[in-house]
Amino acid sequence: MKTVEYHLGREEAKELLGRIDQALSSLDTKATLDEVVKLLNGNVPSYTWVGVYTMNDGALHLAAWSGPAPTVHDTIPLGKGVCGYAAKAGRTEIVSDVSKDPRYLECFLSTKSEIVVPIFAGGKVVGELDIDGDVLGAFSTTDKEFLEAVARKISAHWPIQSPPQLR
Ligand code: SME
Repeated sequence: MKTVEYHLGREEAKELLGRIDQALSSLDTKATLDEVVKLLNGNVPSYTWVGVYTMNDGALHLAAWSGPAPTVHDTIPLGKGVCGYAAKAGRTEIVSDVSKDPRYLECFLSTKSEIVVPIFAGGKVVGELDIDGDVLGAFSTTDKEFLEAVARKISAHWPIQSPPQLR
């Protein structure tokens, strides 16, 4: 049950980061992304919807997600939405009230706040974590630090395994 009062605690974040690290140790990239979204959505009540986008050809593509429903935004051009902005700027974006942010691309009516955390590999943004919350101000600096640490764990599994591009 998702509760309004919940916020991620520092000790809890540390413990979950250890579990994520262990779960990822023997996985390839796609399995890693599936596992991360499931662990985050399943263990942190304020994380209503959790997705990982990967960057390819100037756009973000949804690679894994966990939550109550799929999003229509499975491809987001660089610079569009909070997701595209964070990817272009190469830094974490916290939006405490999505109704007040003109960049916001709506996915779910219930969403009130959002955090987007870039994933870096080889000094470049290669993807990002995107998390929606159903309460205003669901994300704190604890979430930011925790999710940036998760993003570093994910980047250790890059590059993503994908079929060769058709030309
Ligand atoms: N809200 C995002 C789009 C992705 S959905 O939240 C899953 C944005 O503004 O970029």
